[in-house]
Parts: sequence; structure tokens; C-alpha cells
Amino acid sequence: MATPHFDAAIVGAGAAGLLCAALAGQRGRRVLLIDHAPKVAEKIRISGGGRCNFTNRDIDPRAPERHYVGHNPRFARSALSRYTPQDFIRLVQRHGIGFHEKHKGQLFCDEGSERIITMLLDECADGRVERWQPCAVDSVAFSGPNVQPASASSHQDHGYLLQTTRGAVTASRLVIATGGLSIPKIGASDFGYRLARQFGLPLVAQRPGLVPLTFQGEDWAPWAPLAGVALPVRVQVAGPGGSAKGRMAFDEDLLFTHRGLSGPAILQISSYWHGGEPLIIHLAPGVDLRAGLVAAKRQSRKHIANILAQWLPTRLADAWASRRADWQRPVNEAGDKALGQLAEQLARWQITPSGSEGYKKAEVTLGGVDTRALSQQSMEATGQSGLHFIGEVVDVTGWLGGYNFQWAWASAAACALAL
Ligand code: FDA
Repeated sequence: MATPHFDAAIVGAGAAGLLCAALAGQRGRRVLLIDHAPKVAEKIRISGGGRCNFTNRDIDPRAPERHYVGHNPRFARSALSRYTPQDFIRLVQRHGIGFHEKHKGQLFCDEGSERIITMLLDECADGRVERWQPCAVDSVAFSGPNVQPASASSHQDHGYLLQTTRGAVTASRLVIATGGLSIPKIGASDFGYRLARQFGLPLVAQRPGLVPLTFQGEDWAPWAPLAGVALPVRVQVAGPGGSAKGRMAFDEDLLFTHRGLSGPAILQISSYWHGGEPLIIHLAPGVDLRAGLVAAKRQSRKHIANILAQWLPTRLADAWASRRADWQRPVNEAGDKALGQLAEQLARWQITPSGSEGYKKAEVTLGGVDTRALSQQSMEATGQSGLHFIGEVVDVTGWLGGYNFQWAWASAAACALAL
């Protein structure tokens, strides 16, 4: 039997792979979409707490470095400008999917994320996309122009030969949309990185991003009882000498956990944090703590912990005041110096994580296929004809809040136009 041939084979039926397959199919390309997981688009399903934060209205395609991390976030500019949040919103509206804005431009489905998956599958059906799932790719070989693959059908003279668990298949173009390493139990694999290496593409080292941070057991012992306490903070990574000036800062909620810190503030800063660097956390942003404590000293006989509870959750106020004997007294009996130090420390809590919760909890993988080896127009490898990388497997990582899906959609759309 002749080996089936497709214009494009796309490996990975997640966010990027599904949209790319649909758009290319709708342009008349014969597309095969392959995924090794038994269920389609599991990450979309679990995203946004089950409601898929599918894009963000605040994305500025002209300045991707504002919301994207990577060796060269400006690489994303072309794709993000050509397929914008408005384009995806139009698609969602065309399918009658209700959505709402929650916070800072973040758009969520009114109903479950399943609606987005169904929408993408319907779009694939419109494009007559063939999907092989579950199906693993055992090997990929490239036959250069005019080199006939031994088992390929006669109408094509170059392309990719894939050996899969459903048999051999050839394709003129190969798109890798296998995502990152996070949440291995729902299908994440290093396939994309291995394939990039096979074809000589450089990689930027991978590490977990948008991930809770952890601390050494002993260092964390005083804070572990606060697990469950949440509060708005401002968080930054400290530079050399402890200064955070000019560094990325996030004003979001922080959550204490048994092993460390989580919540949106910490997930965001984790993508900018490197091992060994301290964090600087303002526990009451927008409050002039020094002035507040001095005023309280004049007017009140309450214990310092009770005064702090105006600005902090009670459990945190109690834990903080218990750290020093001269903070465990009525505020009117406290020395100015002790109050000044208390205000200073609450505004600049410096603490050094020992690590992170890793890929089992990370929402994304930082690093990946080096953008210097890809065309920003088509996402094609500059040194390897017909090989494209899209979505999270590429070294472009967004902030929390719909930025990662928008990158998946935009890079998929850019690639689809080139297939
Ligand atoms: P994605 O991971 O979606 O798809 C990759 C596909 O490739 C998978 O279907 C996988 O099975 C398949 N695959 C992997 N290896 C393979 C192999 N060897 N052979 C065949 N197939 C293979 N982002 C956002 O913008 N808003 C949000 O609300 C959230 N929420 C969120 C929650 C949680 C818990 C996580 C873990 C992540 C998020 N994200 C998010 C991030 C977002 O899910 C992610 O960035 C995109 O899904 C990336 O899309 P991709 O298509 O690149 O990879």
C-alpha cells in the first residue's frame, strides 16, 4: 500500500496545533494532525481553572517584551501583530461562546474550556483535517529536494517521512506543536526539543515558569503555619546588592503554602527568577507603613499586631509581630526605631527561594527552540526547509493571563499561512 502523503503533518493537537491545522486545512491544504495523548487538548481543558483564559485584551503586539519572556521576545512581534486578540475573539463570537473579562484584560469563557476545544475541532472539521490520536511518532527523516524517500508515493519529491504507531506517512512540511514540559501526566514530552536537536537547531535551556516557589524546610518553618493566607503584594527579584530598581515588578495576590509561596504574584515573578536570587516583597503596597505606625503610636494603646491587622491578614500580622520582642507590645510603648524597622521590613521582605515546584505544577516551560533559528514570518527553521515550530515549544513565554494562548494562536496562524 502506498504511503499516505499530506501537504503538512502537524505533531501536537494542543492549542497551537489545532488552530494551525484548521487554518491550513481551510486554505485547501491536506493536513494530518497527530497527538500521542488519548484525549485532545488537555491543557486547554484544565486552563484558567476550567474556564480557559483564552486571550488578553492588553497585549501590545508592537512591544511584546512587555508581556513575554525569552531570549528575544521581540521575535513574537510579527505573529502577534498579524493575529491579534481581536481575531481570536471574533472566532469565539462566531461560535456563540460567551466570555467575560475578569482582571487586567484577561478573557475567560462563561462556560467550560470544553467550548474552546469543540470550537477548534469544528474548525478542523471545516478544513477537512485528518487527526490520528492517540498516535506516537517513532522517527522523522527528511529527504532533501529530488531525493525520493524509499517508501513515499511518487507525487512528491521531498519532505518528511514519519514512522508512527499508525504506520508511515510523508508530508511536504512538518509542524512541531508539542508544547513544553509542564504537567507530564497529561501528555507533555520533550519531543519538540529532541526533534530540534535532530535537525541541528539551537535550544535555549528550559526551566519551569509560572510556578510556585519553595523554600528550605528550616527557613520556611516560621511561615508554614500561614498556609492558606492570601494578600495583595508587590513582588520583584532583587538584583546584586539587594536593589530591585528598574526590575520587573508585579502587583498581584500572594498565597502562602505549606512549602512556600504561590498565587499570581509569585507565578508571574517566577518566570523572571533564577536560582539563588532573593525576592523583595512589599506586603502592604500603597500603604505608608511608617507614617501609619507613628500615627498609631500617638493615638492608640493597641498591640502592634492589632495595628498591623489594618493592613495585613490577621494571621500574618500576628506572625510578623512575634518575630521580635520589641514588636510584641502596645504600639504606644514601642520605640520609634523599632517601628521604623518594622515598616521597612514589611515593605522590603527579602526572602530567597530554594527552588520551585517544578514541571508538575508549572503552567509553562521557559526556553525552547531558539528564535534565532526561526523565521518570524512563518515560524520555519531558517536552516531546515519545511520544518516549523509553533506555540510553547518555541522560546517565547507569556505572562499569566491569556498571553500564552495568544502566542499559541498567533504563531499557529503565522505558520498556517506558510503551509
Ligand atoms: P499544548 O501543551 O497545548 O499542546 C501540546 C500537544 O502536543 C499536547 O496535546 C500533547 O499531548 C502533544 N504532544 C506532546 N508530545 C508529543 C509527542 N511526543 N507526540 C505527539 N504529541 C505530543 N495559558 C493561557 O494563556 N491561559 C490560561 O488560562 C492557561 N492556563 C493554564 C493552566 C495550566 C494548569 C497549565 C499547565 C497551563 C496553562 N496555560 C494557560 C498555558 C497554556 O496551556 C499553554 O501555553 C498552551 O497550551 C501551549 O499551547 P501548545 O499548543 O504550544 O502546547
